[in-house]
Amino acid sequence: MDVIDARIERIITASAHAPSVHNTQPWRVELEGNRMLVHADPSRQLRHSDPAGREMYISCGAFLFNVRTSARRESLTAQATILPSPHDKLHVASIRFDPALGPDMDELELSVAIDRRATSRTPFDDQPLDSDVLLEIQMAARDEGADLHLIHPSDPTRSNVLTLVRRAEALAGEDAVARGEEAAWTATTAARHDGIPQDLLGPSATDEQAPVRHFLASGGDAEFEHRSTMAVLSTPDDTPRDWIAAGEALEHLLLVATTYFVHASFATTVLENPTTRHDLRRALSLDGWPQMLMRMGYSATHPHTPRRTIEEIVAPGEPETAAE
Ligand SMILES: Cc1cc2nc3c(=O)[nH]c(=O)nc-3n(C[C@H](O)[C@H](O)[C@H](O)COP(=O)(O)O)c2cc1C
Repeated sequence: MDVIDARIERIITASAHAPSVHNTQPWRVELEGNRMLVHADPSRQLRHSDPAGREMYISCGAFLFNVRTSARRESLTAQATILPSPHDKLHVASIRFDPALGPDMDELELSVAIDRRATSRTPFDDQPLDSDVLLEIQMAARDEGADLHLIHPSDPTRSNVLTLVRRAEALAGEDAVARGEEAAWTATTAARHDGIPQDLLGPSATDEQAPVRHFLASGGDAEFEHRSTMAVLSTPDDTPRDWIAAGEALEHLLLVATTYFVHASFATTVLENPTTRHDLRRALSLDGWPQMLMRMGYSATHPHTPRRTIEEIVAPGEPETAAE
């Protein structure tokens, strides 16, 4: 790798803190002068659970939001052209950096939240979220062209959603290929710079009243909260462009949540199965396409999953093959 501007190096390091399905980090970066090209890396795609690459693009969208946000901290603006090449669907975005005034307080707060955000798979406090905070979180999703449908603790649709989550988890549990794919990216060793280490997988929920993914290597059981706010992020359509927007919306809303000490975790198995995804859309009467299901609440700060180094991310030429 050529010597790169220290600011661009800091932007890439911050951007790589983005959430990604199973911490696959399916992004690759090329640098061309003052432009950054972000590519999706299909060798890091969950080919079986995510055949269309929807979750891969969502993850790249989250990376992209971090590029935009961390650029502001460096007194740059990041002008992104999404899917610039009609012949290369893996070319997620071309980003041009231009000098600008320093960040305002809101921009600075969001950029600082990038390092603090982490998925929290532990039980939350049984404490409802402040409605003004929820509104701000919803506005963040809307800013990126997505919608965040809230499912409050008393919402009658809540039990339907939990039933669908359980059904999807049961079906995935019987799918040997899906289990093998999950095993390749979870309970990973300390030498790996990707995947989810066992101690961060969190416990399984004893009474299944909270939407949490059942990882095969989960460490024991725990009683989860009954009153977390659940939310479904959706987009008007279901194309790679929508998936990238969903990723940007996801990271934007998670960073806003982080500034209010609100944590989130996800249960997306229900959206990986086309039947339960369709049923969830119907159960909530969503106009758009559901892209992420999450629970939000207050909990202890969660430790961070590992990340690949800049040298691994800014890799010209052939992308790596998925480890293990
Ligand atoms: C598209 C997508 C789907 C995800 N699905 C789940 C899920 O079903 N269960 C879960 O616990 N985490 C899920 N996550 C969170 C990732 O596992 C997490 O972002 C990754 O391990 C990196 O950890 P961090 O968020 O703490 O930085 C998902 C993230 C993305 C972007």
